[in-house]
Amino acid sequence: MPTPTDPAEASGQAPAQTAASPQAGAAAETSSAQDTPVIAFHDVEKSFGPNTVLKDLNFSVQRGERVTLIGPSGSGKTTILRLVMTLEELTGGYIFIDGEPLTHEERDGRRVPVSKAAQRKLRTRIGMVFQQFNLFPNMTVVENIIEAPVHVLGMPKKEALTKAHDLLQQVGLGDKADAHPTSLSGGQQQRVAIARALAMDPEILLLDEVTSALDPEVVGEVLGILRRVAETTNVTMLIVTHEMQFARDVSHRVMMFDGGHVVESAPPEELFTAPKHERTQRFLSAVLGDH
Ligand SMILES: Nc1ncnc2c1ncn2[C@@H]1O[C@H](COP(=O)(O)OP(=O)(O)OP(=O)(O)O)[C@@H](O)[C@H]1O
Ligand SMILES: [Mg+2]
Repeated sequence: MPTPTDPAEASGQAPAQTAASPQAGAAAETSSAQDTPVIAFHDVEKSFGPNTVLKDLNFSVQRGERVTLIGPSGSGKTTILRLVMTLEELTGGYIFIDGEPLTHEERDGRRVPVSKAAQRKLRTRIGMVFQQFNLFPNMTVVENIIEAPVHVLGMPKKEALTKAHDLLQQVGLGDKADAHPTSLSGGQQQRVAIARALAMDPEILLLDEVTSALDPEVVGEVLGILRRVAETTNVTMLIVTHEMQFARDVSHRVMMFDGGHVVESAPPEELFTAPKHERTQRFLSAVLGDH
């Protein structure tokens, strides 16, 4: 994995250069927001140089929905999450968060960038957990967790600390507040990363293969924490995982990607047991090994 160059990449949170403190979910309280998708991709295109990874991509995710993206390596799953987190630049189309344009909008028939301030504000509603944890190595566990609430949301430090300790209890690390990330196991670091993302009360949580770098025996405890988050909150989740049982259990919907397109999209009980598309059938036989 490349070295993070963006503060959001290092933290899984919005960068610290704004004092804006929008209440997460504020837009949801407006009357028409009920049916507005939390995430909407409109004709999204993403190219890396000459390599077009996503083209004419359209999908939306409703409030509180948990959607798992599956598909072969290189199909663009991580790119989709990184676009939502604004860690990658969109090369075409639009992404809307709660109906508000995240990077570009159409004005007088032209595609124009939104203001950086508007983008930062939207990004405070989005948290991401990465495969490689991406904790700040020079900060203690609790400092990692309070960094964005204090510096991005302007939360009083005392309140942020109380919340951080509470979250650490919830992820079973109440005694590790003053530890440095390097002294923790991979599973513990990932639990800190989850607590750090939750400290911002995100409306949207992006999870990119969060157990892929972990020893098999600690995968269960990390997934257990995420199952609890899914059961006890209304946070919208966009999940990339190879843990098919977890995907079945927590997702409302599974989207199969290939070549930058949605091949099919269905509830897990349908997509895993009776996939309609031949490409999905082939992919599932390969990953499940026995179908
Ligand atoms: N920073 C980058 N520069 C150039 N090409 C990139 C970059 N990031 C991704 N790509 C290319 O975009 C395509 C999609 O990559 P992406 O990481 O989104 O796939 P993925 O579905 O997450 O794959 P995996 O399952 O292996 O994680 C790949 O062809 C990849 O090589
Ligand atoms: Mg990936």
